[in-house]
Amino acid sequence: MKPLRKIIFPAAGMGTRFLPATKASPKEMLTIVDKPLIQYGVEEALAADMEQIIMITGRGKRAIEDHFDISAELEANLKKAGKKALYKKVSSVARMAEVIYVRQKEALGLGHAVLCARNWIFDEPFGVSLADELIVGDVPAMQQLRAVYNQTKCSVIGLIQVPEDQVSKYGIVAYQAEENGLLRLTDMVEKPNTEDAPSRLAIIGRYIFTPRLMELLRDVQPGKGGEIQLTDAISALAKEEPVYGVLLDGQRFDAGNPEGFLKANAILGLQHKKFGEALRQELIKHL
Ligand code: G1P
Repeated sequence: MKPLRKIIFPAAGMGTRFLPATKASPKEMLTIVDKPLIQYGVEEALAADMEQIIMITGRGKRAIEDHFDISAELEANLKKAGKKALYKKVSSVARMAEVIYVRQKEALGLGHAVLCARNWIFDEPFGVSLADELIVGDVPAMQQLRAVYNQTKCSVIGLIQVPEDQVSKYGIVAYQAEENGLLRLTDMVEKPNTEDAPSRLAIIGRYIFTPRLMELLRDVQPGKGGEIQLTDAISALAKEEPVYGVLLDGQRFDAGNPEGFLKANAILGLQHKKFGEALRQELIKHL
């Protein structure tokens, strides 16, 4: 197997859960404390030694490209004004990763978005990361997946436990615990009703796949919601070769909707070295 060095960020979604904020700007650019969501995702991927980012974008997503591009005028102004720390922050974003942009021309589903990157993946293993699922912790989520991938050389999916009344929002897995402590996934269902959910372990937007997944995706027919579902391709993959699940450590926020976004900003704001104390004092006044 070739080395794992590529990661796909599906970022073409319309962000309907966050309207009107996402009417004219991408949900991936929503700011958590002082950085857009997508930058958290890219930094997490780089921490897991990913080298090439394949961003799947669409109409109205140009701000993502600009964010990871060099802004010559801004850099020159910051330099001239002697704002060294800011200059460093701004210039490092533009140089942190090799990013390739691929347009998903029609909103046909997450599986279809991933399939749009096929010509950049060829026969290599690859990661997939959904930036609106913000996961922060001591060991970055993608690194937790890579550790299991390095051990098994099989596909690995990030999981969290969710309450029973939440299963219909996620891909839910069926699994068997192996003697070595790994969870082998035997099947998965996209957004099941409570009574059809095989467990309460939910797929949480971090994946590593063998190249076979891309071939299987080509044959996936529209599923839940009439969309080409990534979960259906993983289900087919799990019938051919081992697919493992990792229960992720870390704080996780569904930052693609207002409630999760507010929680992420409040909690990460409180934990922030520079702003945390002032925020805490202000919030206390309102409790
Ligand atoms: C997607 C996946 C789903 C997964 C979820 C995690 O759904 O299809 O399996 O559980 O992301 O956020 P979406 O929320 O994009 O509809």
